Parts: sequence; C-alpha cells; structure tokens
Amino acid sequence: MARVVRNLLFRSSAVPPPFKFHDLRLPGSFSFSTSASIRSKARKNKGKNLEKSSNISVINQSKLSQVKRRTRSEKELDEEAFLKNYGNENSAHVPVLLGEVLDVFTSVTLRSFLDCTLGAAGHSSAIIRAHPEMQVYVGLDVDPIAHEKAQSQLKSIIDRDSFDTASALKVHTFLKNFKDVKSVLGEVADDLLTGGVNGILMDLGMSSMQVNDAGRGFSVLKNGPLDMRMNPKATLKAEDILNSWPTDEVGRVLREYGEESNWYSLQNRIVKARLHGGLHSTNDLVDLIQNSTSRTKGRQGWIKTATRVFQALRIAVNDELKTLEDSIRACFESLSSGGRLAVISFHSLEDRIVKQTFLDIMNCSEVDGGVVEDEEGKRLRELRKINLETVKEEAWIKQVIQGQNGTILTKRPITPSEKEETLNPRSRSAKLRVIQKA
Ligand SMILES: C[S@@+](CC[C@H](N)C(=O)[O-])C[C@H]1O[C@@H](n2cnc3c(N)ncnc32)[C@H](O)[C@@H]1O
Repeated sequence: MARVVRNLLFRSSAVPPPFKFHDLRLPGSFSFSTSASIRSKARKNKGKNLEKSSNISVINQSKLSQVKRRTRSEKELDEEAFLKNYGNENSAHVPVLLGEVLDVFTSVTLRSFLDCTLGAAGHSSAIIRAHPEMQVYVGLDVDPIAHEKAQSQLKSIIDRDSFDTASALKVHTFLKNFKDVKSVLGEVADDLLTGGVNGILMDLGMSSMQVNDAGRGFSVLKNGPLDMRMNPKATLKAEDILNSWPTDEVGRVLREYGEESNWYSLQNRIVKARLHGGLHSTNDLVDLIQNSTSRTKGRQGWIKTATRVFQALRIAVNDELKTLEDSIRACFESLSSGGRLAVISFHSLEDRIVKQTFLDIMNCSEVDGGVVEDEEGKRLRELRKINLETVKEEAWIKQVIQGQNGTILTKRPITPSEKEETLNPRSRSAKLRVIQKA
C-alpha cells in the first residue's frame, strides 16, 4: 500500500475551479458498523408485518393503518468513535444518520458516487473509505465555505490514509447547485450521464458551519445580518423579503414555508416595522417575534416561532422547495440500473416533497394513507419478486414500495436512533428516504 495523490487538477472556467484528486485509492474501513448482535436482533424483530422469506414487507392494505409513520433506526451507534470523530468543538459538522447512509450503499458496487450536498464531506469521506472499488467521485455544494472545507477534508483523508496504487479514484468537486446535476455529470464524463451513477446522496438543509457562523444570519440565537443565502453570490437576502416584498407575499412565505399559525399578525408587524426603518439584523427580527408571541408560552414559545420564521425565510431566500422536486427527478434519472438515491430531509415540507416525488417517479400513487396501486399489476408482481430477492438480505430495509421504475426501499423514513439524537440534537428532525432504480 502506498500513498499516492497524483494529478491534482484545477479547471479554469467561469465558475470557481472544480477540485480533483486523481488516482487515489482508499482502504475500505469505517467507524460505524452494525454489530452481529444488532443484526440478529433486527432479524428476530421482523415481526408480523414481514414476509416469511425475508425481512421485507410489501405494502398490505389491512396493516397500513397500524404502522407508524417512521422507523427509528435500530443501528448501534459507536459512541466512542462518534465522540472521537466529532466530540470536539473544532468539528465542523456532524454527519447525520451516517451509519444508516453507509448501510444503504453497502450492497451496491459503487464505482461512481455523487454527493449533491458536500457540507464538510463527512458522509462522503466515510462512503469513499467504505468503497475501495470507487473510481469516480463527484461532490457539489452551493456554499463556497462548505466547498473549500470539503476539499480540504477529502484531501486530508486521502493524505492520512494509505492507498493501493492498483486502482484509481478520480475526485471532482464543484461549487454548484444540485439543480444542475446533469450538466455537472456531463462535464465530468459523458458515460456518467449515459451509464448513470451507482449512488447519490442529498443531505438537505444547513450545515453546522452555516448555522454557527453568525455572519450568515441563519441562527436564531446569534445576532447577525438578515442574510441567509447559502450561495453568497445570490442576490436575494432575507432582509429584502422582510423590508420590501408585498405584504401578502411576506404572509405567504410565513404561512407556506414556516407553517406558522401566527403568520397574519407577524406579517403585519413586519410591514409596520418598515415605517421605522425596517429590520436589519437577526436580533431585530427576534425582538419582533418575542413581542408578538404570547408571554404565557415563555422562551420555548418564541424560540419555536422564531425557528419557523427563520426556516420560512431561508427556504424563500434559497428557493429550496421549488428546485427540490426537479433535482430529485434529475438525480434519479442520473442513476445507473440498480443504483440508489438517498435523501435526508430536516422538516416536514421537504420530507413531503421527497416522499411524493419518489412515489411519482415510481409511477405509483398513495391511497388511504399508504396503499400503493399500480396499473400494470401482473407485470409488477413479477418485477417485485426479482427486486425483493435483491434487497431481502439487508436488515435495514423494512418495508418497500414497488413501482414500475424501481423500488422505494423506505416505505417509512428512517429516523435517528435515540443515542444519535442525544449525542447530536441537531439530528432530531432528520428523515432518510431511499429509492432504487429498476
Ligand atoms: C446538511 S449539509 C451537508 C453535510 C454533509 N452531508 C456532511 O456530512 O458534511 C447541507 C449542505 O448542502 C448545501 N446545499 C443546500 N442546498 C444546496 C443546493 N441546492 N445545491 C448544492 N448544495 C446545497 C449547503 O450549503 C450545505 O453545505
């Protein structure tokens, strides 16, 4: 084994240069693993809903009313490794549901992998390490600070680890929005577009690096400018919405993107604040929210409202929901046959879009809270047999939904284990959904 980092390439183009490592090989080890005891426990717990021959259950109408809306992860989290890797204050971002994401791709031969949301490259680093067969890695982020951080993280794991020179991994990173995923893949290699990528990850939302930096304006608890742009070159800031958008548009943002019941009163107060110079810092906005939240609800009351208002503004500033459905479709189209797309969402609006887009892509529809019907019943039953055969050995898969174009491997989203929630409270609202292309 030798350490090899060859041909570090930077392209010159209108966008900042993509970052590439060529001819790299990483060892296939990672710190989160499902212990044998947990796996066997998971199998024993297959329970009533599961088919005899596997731990997979295909949707059954009569049982649907009894099932919960999510599956809490049963995966054992290695607390010692977790604290070693992310327990100090210098940790930029703690990757959420890391062991679960690794499980998703364990059975897939990942010759190519795309991370749509690099962040600090926590997921990517672990996935690269777990898949020494990987030949092409592509990562994107709209945020230049995240992009830079991810580049140095990828470089450091490559420098730190040993590599087998026999095989080559080409690493490409781009400062790009994931809505441009197809053009990015086309730029990397034509055959990535035609043959498809074996695995894709979208870890939506903000990174801790973004929230912790008061200057970005994402944090309810730290004073900063009302900015909230993930891409600092974008023109729209939160303060533009608050200080100059029409009243009913401000109301719509709070109502639709924040699901804030008090939107009408907040909308009026925000517009009234314009008479006194407007809102210019996150403290200005928090003060306004505190003053309009019932005192009887105390600190928790205004913090919850402020969290919803900040979420609403962030979604509007970054146009997060409008592009999500199209981006998920583009990612699915970019998968190879048998390839998997994993999406982690952090609030119900996002999760609803992920869930519905998966169903639409599969060409099946959800009825009565979960029953899936298909036009080509017979053909699908055959297809289902084949697909279930391929996934039945995977303990993490509980219920699947079969469609014409592939399989939804998470009928219910996977949420973090209690231990992960305790160690990383920011993981609390995470939901993981996975789809596999036929
Ligand atoms: C939760 S973090 C990802 C963390 C990463 N998985 C890790 O383990 O470090 C989400 C990242 O996605 C980026 N992002 C959000 N929307 C994006 C978009 N439309 N295109 C590309 N990147 C996006 C954010 O800038 C942020 O860095």
